[in-house]
Amino acid sequence: MAEALVSALVTLFVVIDPIGIAPIFVSLTHGMAPAERRRVAMRSVLIAAVVLVAFAAIGQPMLEALGITLPAFRIAGGLLLFWIPTEMVFEKRQARKSGSAERSVQEDHPEDIAAFPLAVPLMAFDNVTRAIEAFEVTLITPAARFDQFLDGNEVAMNDQEKEGLRLFMDTGCVSCHNGVNLGGQDYFPFGVIERPGSDILPPEDKGRFAVTQTATDEYVFRAVPLRNVALTAPYFHSGQVWDLEQAVAIMSTAQLGIELSEEEIEAIPAFLHTLTGEQPRVEYPILPRSTDTTPVPELMVPTSR
Ligand code: HEC
Repeated sequence: MAEALVSALVTLFVVIDPIGIAPIFVSLTHGMAPAERRRVAMRSVLIAAVVLVAFAAIGQPMLEALGITLPAFRIAGGLLLFWIPTEMVFEKRQARKSGSAERSVQEDHPEDIAAFPLAVPLMAFDNVTRAIEAFEVTLITPAARFDQFLDGNEVAMNDQEKEGLRLFMDTGCVSCHNGVNLGGQDYFPFGVIERPGSDILPPEDKGRFAVTQTATDEYVFRAVPLRNVALTAPYFHSGQVWDLEQAVAIMSTAQLGIELSEEEIEAIPAFLHTLTGEQPRVEYPILPRSTDTTPVPELMVPTSR
């Protein structure tokens, strides 16, 4: 019995998520008078209580009448949580929402937040973070010429670029810049063989040491992923180098202790240019038309008026 109670309590705690909902409450009711805030809080609690009590009372008979077992219902709940962000990725939800958004702004009371998201938190905070994550997942830059080459399209790269790739592998750049993003997996000292001058590596900026306070982490930095590197000047954490050829020359002396010939110094950046992929196209959602009931931003700083 006690065990069942504890388990039920834990489940309730997770579903209602009072700790997660508190900051949402604070931010949503920002600027309301204390009495108004109390009213919103009371309404939220009331709505949540009614929903919970109603389902506690009629939930099981209802499921039974529908021929659904409790474990099946739980699995369905899990699938639903999985489905919402998946839909977001494939934009269906967006299309449906932009249709319903205009209606809801006109029919509902957008200022009334007691029911949603406060009383029904499942859809609020977690899904906001999931939505952002789902959006970020779409920010990829596929089909770089290097990818096409790896896919077997041998003419996707010219001879100079292929020579650059060979040098990139043979001289040892790949020991730090590897994997699907050609880097980003690990930290390495900047200046394994020869520490660059203070114009490029400011002596007071000791990199990872600032976080770990471990002597071996002095001047250690993340090996930058090199996808789209031709678009992301300036280079290095100090942002002091604007020219990709110069960045490559610094890398080869500092990290590998080799002086590349002028031809080689040109070939590697030529290869690095093949890492530029198709840039993501972001379509902004079309927001519903503003009406006289649309909430307007509140001034945080009091004005003299
Ligand atoms: C020992 C590991 C190591 C090796 C070998 C190495 N790199 Fe790096 N690379 C790094 C690290 C660490 C950084 C980040 C330095 C910083 O942020 O100041 C970096 C940064 C870069 C950058 C700047 C990217 C940017 O966006 O700022 C380029 C370009 C680059 N490397 C190319 C190369 C090339 C080409 C080679 C081979 C000639 C090479 N690297 C060899 C570790 C390495």
